Amino acid sequence: MNVEKIEKICVVGAGNMGHQIALCAALAGYKVTCTDINQEMLSKAEGFVRTYLPERVAKEKLTLTQADEAMAHLHFTKSLEEASGEADFVIEAAVEKMDIKRKLFADLDRIAPPHAILATNSSYIVSSRIADATKRPDRVCNMHFFNPALVMKLVEVVQGPHTSVETAQVTMDLCKKMGKTGILLKKEIYGFVVNRILTAIFNEALFLNDVGIATPEEIDIAVTNALGHPMGPFRLMDLTGIDLAYYKAMERYQETRDPKDKPSPLVVEKFTKGEWGKKTKKGYYSYE
Ligand code: 3HC
Repeated sequence: MNVEKIEKICVVGAGNMGHQIALCAALAGYKVTCTDINQEMLSKAEGFVRTYLPERVAKEKLTLTQADEAMAHLHFTKSLEEASGEADFVIEAAVEKMDIKRKLFADLDRIAPPHAILATNSSYIVSSRIADATKRPDRVCNMHFFNPALVMKLVEVVQGPHTSVETAQVTMDLCKKMGKTGILLKKEIYGFVVNRILTAIFNEALFLNDVGIATPEEIDIAVTNALGHPMGPFRLMDLTGIDLAYYKAMERYQETRDPKDKPSPLVVEKFTKGEWGKKTKKGYYSYE
């Protein structure tokens, strides 16, 4: 397969990442179906698209024709069969839980056409942990976008030992077609490049707060003003989701049993209270 053969893209998961990835693909001219088991999530995603596109037109960042075409190309459905049954390329952006991803990939392998590439947008999990749930491991890879996906240019493509050269190349070419800058990692590593660096920053920020050296606000002020980051680590965790930070740390801790991989007490507290960041209107900051 080559990238020119891709017409239909399925995005699994309509959350923070999924719906913006779907819209990126629709804006690039692909016929996209975004699916989620949660109807509320789908409705929210559809609502976002209906507001975002006219706003971009009003801001003169898109023409009316581009917005109308993207709208016409993007569909939302609860049915995984409908979304992936004719897809040439699938991007899984579901919750960061291994068992859910493995089940999804087994289902996608059964439903999607044999030529379809199945990529995971997992933030940390390498695709070799998932590929063996399918009968097409050569067509499985990581394709990792960043939040907000409509804005951030980078996509990490990871070619696992099972991934064919063709799959990696088609995925890199698709990044380009979607207006993204791809980097191809030819060796798997947990968290890839960006999230390994980001995790080091998050862990240090949480440690400094946990031991009472500085508050989240102070740490964010320090990082934005001294390092020039657009947002400090706590505001960024609010954007990417404290639930994601919690699930990721728990998955990792269950695997390694290394206490340093346990979620920080503050992450556990926020997760338990349902204060997951921007998506719940409260995290380290309030978004009411
Ligand atoms: N969705 C879509 N577009 C958005 C957006 C959102 N949530 N937030 C901002 N934008 C767009 C705006 O429309 C605007 O577009 P325009 O310039 O073309 O009109 C542009 O971004 C700038 O927006 P604002 O002026 O409102 O705000 P800022 O200048 O503060 O930018 C930001 C907001 C782009 C989020 C910026 O603060 C930023 O880059 N933050 C860092 C984000 C980051 O580090 N992301 C990576 C996280 S790690 C990750 O995703 C890993 C994953 O595995 C979890």
